Amino acid sequence: MANMENKNIITLAIETSCDETACAVLRNGREVLANEVHTQIDIHQTFGGVVPEIASRNHLDKISEIIERALEQAGVGFDDVDEIAVTYGPGLVGALLVGLSTAKALAYALEKPLIPVNHIEGHIAANYIAHPDLKPPFACLIVSGGHTHLVDVKDYTTFEIIGRTRDDAAGEAFDKIARTLGLGYPGGPIVDRLAKEGNPMAIDFPKAMMDQDHLDFSFSGLKSAVLNYLNSCRMKQVEINVPDVCASFQHAVIEVLKAKAAQALSQTGYDTLVLAGGVAANSGLRASLGQLKGIKLYYPPISLCTDNAAMIACAGYYQARAGQSGSLATNAVPNLKIGEKKYE
Ligand code: KG4
Ligand code: ZN
Repeated sequence: MANMENKNIITLAIETSCDETACAVLRNGREVLANEVHTQIDIHQTFGGVVPEIASRNHLDKISEIIERALEQAGVGFDDVDEIAVTYGPGLVGALLVGLSTAKALAYALEKPLIPVNHIEGHIAANYIAHPDLKPPFACLIVSGGHTHLVDVKDYTTFEIIGRTRDDAAGEAFDKIARTLGLGYPGGPIVDRLAKEGNPMAIDFPKAMMDQDHLDFSFSGLKSAVLNYLNSCRMKQVEINVPDVCASFQHAVIEVLKAKAAQALSQTGYDTLVLAGGVAANSGLRASLGQLKGIKLYYPPISLCTDNAAMIACAGYYQARAGQSGSLATNAVPNLKIGEKKYE
């Protein structure tokens, strides 16, 4: 029994929910032995966004190679793996099914438990890898391409959504603005870079729901305001100052996120704020939240902010310890919500 308790648990995880084919191997939930990510960004760039059918086919092409690379990097064999974690939602159904089917085949062949993981809960867990001292409970601001949520993380496997976007996700707005400005895909990192050269006060874009006492967000009005501004400049043949547009747009997003995050902390009584998701890579957002007084702020390094399988392995590890595992009947759930368990 003592031996069992001291045993190193090796978790292998697979992530294919969108346009990254990823496999990671972790020891005891937080130590990353391998974290392989193959991104399809260059393939989808031509189309200005992710094309689901192309994403699934590319996952199929790459998945075996990525798993082999991860095992090699970690210096472990299939026999050393104790559990298989996999993203089962939310995401593109065809893309999710490639990872899920592969994980099921491995779990069956190796006779190891299959741990179905919620992708968004994985983004939260990225912080446990980066910060060994971080423990729940805390408030988490999740901002990604498909999600903008404030979550009360009560423990490693218990989540309550306390605020959500009523329309677009923050990352979606970044991507749309960048596309309209002809800056390329994904837009977030490009807007972030250009914003540093612009004046955040140049254009007064709307900051929706700032003064309302709920924790919900809305970014569609801001997105439309930026698009209207650009159209009106073009119609009046006024030159567009791209860095100023990027800086002013980003400023509006950040002000709202900061106000709501501060409100979430006072509502929950926590002093710890955790940032997660692709937009957590935004340098302006990190700096601005860093100015909030009297709080402990955590965010992952950039490599763990965007999609990866290490975060899925970490979330899966804690689920497995809590006795939560799936079976070969587990299906992909494209619209899975945070805190939902929809597997058998
Ligand atoms: O979490 P993620 O990799 O995928 C989803 O699960 O959605 O997030 C991708 C999103 C994209 O919208 C991308 O433009 C945005 O994260 N993003 C950023 C930055 N880096 C990535 N947004 C703002 N600033 C960044 N530096
Ligand atoms: Zn993601």
